[in-house]
Amino acid sequence: LASTEADLSPVEVGQSLTVTWRGKPIFIRHRTDKEIEEARAVPLSELPDPETDQARVIKAPWLIMVGICTHLGCVPLGQKPGDPRGEFGGWFCPCHGSQYDTSGRIRKGPAPKNLVVPSYKFDTDTTITIG
Ligand code: FES
Repeated sequence: LASTEADLSPVEVGQSLTVTWRGKPIFIRHRTDKEIEEARAVPLSELPDPETDQARVIKAPWLIMVGICTHLGCVPLGQKPGDPRGEFGGWFCPCHGSQYDTSGRIRKGPAPKNLVVPSYKFDTDTTITIG
């Protein structure tokens, strides 16, 4: 399928959902206010791959990304309750220790780039089409 639809309505604040698009995991996180604030408080000068949080989302609570580490392609942890999320509260790659923040931006470890934001749109308040 070229595109994938996802229903966000069951995903409570603080919860995550993973769907598949073109064989890739797509990470969806319904961020808390604290997660959004933390992402927005980081100076761009501290980011290895500088991007504002605002540039990475359509709606602030919903962070939607390709769940593939930009180092060598492992799937980072952080989607399931109890998963390690690393020092920056986002995702932690178990392969070589890359750490991503609550905007999915690389903060520490060997990955060169932020987790990729796919093309997507909101069809309704709570449904999206990816791709
Ligand atoms: Fe993620 Fe190497 S593949 S840190």
